[in-house]
Amino acid sequence: MALATRTDRRPSLARTVWDSSLGKKTVMAVSGLIMLLYLVVHMIGNLKIFFGASEFNHYAHWLRVVGEPFMHYEWTLWLVRIVLVVAVIAHATSAYQLSRRDIKARPVAYRHKKARASYATRTMRWGGIILGLFIVWHILDLTTGTVHSGGFQPGHPYQNVVGTFSTWYGNVIYIVAMLALGLHVRHGFWSAAQTLGAGGRTRDRALKAVADVLALLLTLGFIAVPVGVMTGVVS
Ligand code: HEM
Repeated sequence: MALATRTDRRPSLARTVWDSSLGKKTVMAVSGLIMLLYLVVHMIGNLKIFFGASEFNHYAHWLRVVGEPFMHYEWTLWLVRIVLVVAVIAHATSAYQLSRRDIKARPVAYRHKKARASYATRTMRWGGIILGLFIVWHILDLTTGTVHSGGFQPGHPYQNVVGTFSTWYGNVIYIVAMLALGLHVRHGFWSAAQTLGAGGRTRDRALKAVADVLALLLTLGFIAVPVGVMTGVVS
């Protein structure tokens, strides 16, 4: 019996799914929904800032001890961080590969006519890049304190958030990113629902409404924090 050679080998199911455009879109949809879930929880948690420094800082401490004694200090937090990093990488990689495919698939003649991607596609691409850069800035600002203006105080997120929104550029960076987030979630949620087969003639209107409400609540909820600091409600 002849031995199987390299070329005889069939690609694995995972490989076949990943290589297909639908597979990549499914990866984008699932990873996007995981991040969306995190954002809803994060936004609600952030609103605790309106209850004062001790409640907000206590909440940040609880994030590190949640699950104890089964989980060790910060284990749950690290689990969430790992899931998020995997989701961000999967989302960005599939987005990049799908857009490369999209560009390659265009007929050459198209280029002369300067055919451009649709408004929604361009907004999603630029929005994704802005959000990727924002996440790096945000972690360096409020998690590690590397780019934080003034004295970063580990374990005192209330004081750190007030510090960030006491500078004009802190407000500009966050508010621009939150507007980009709203647009990205609005279209992204809708696309994810279509990819995962939730769409349909009767459900499309409801899905669009859910996407609008989610995007608006997230944007307003996040922006409430810098506005709170700017107006002196949080100080
Ligand atoms: C006004 C808007 C926001 C504020 C005030 C804010 C506030 C914070 C604070 C205080 C922390 C540190 C928490 C701690 O160390 O206990 C944090 C962490 C984080 N935030 Fe935000 N956030 C905002 C928006 C966002 C957005 C839009 C995203 C995602 C697109 C995001 C993603 C993250 C991530 C990934 C972490 C790191 C968690 C960790 O590993 O420690 N945040 N945020």
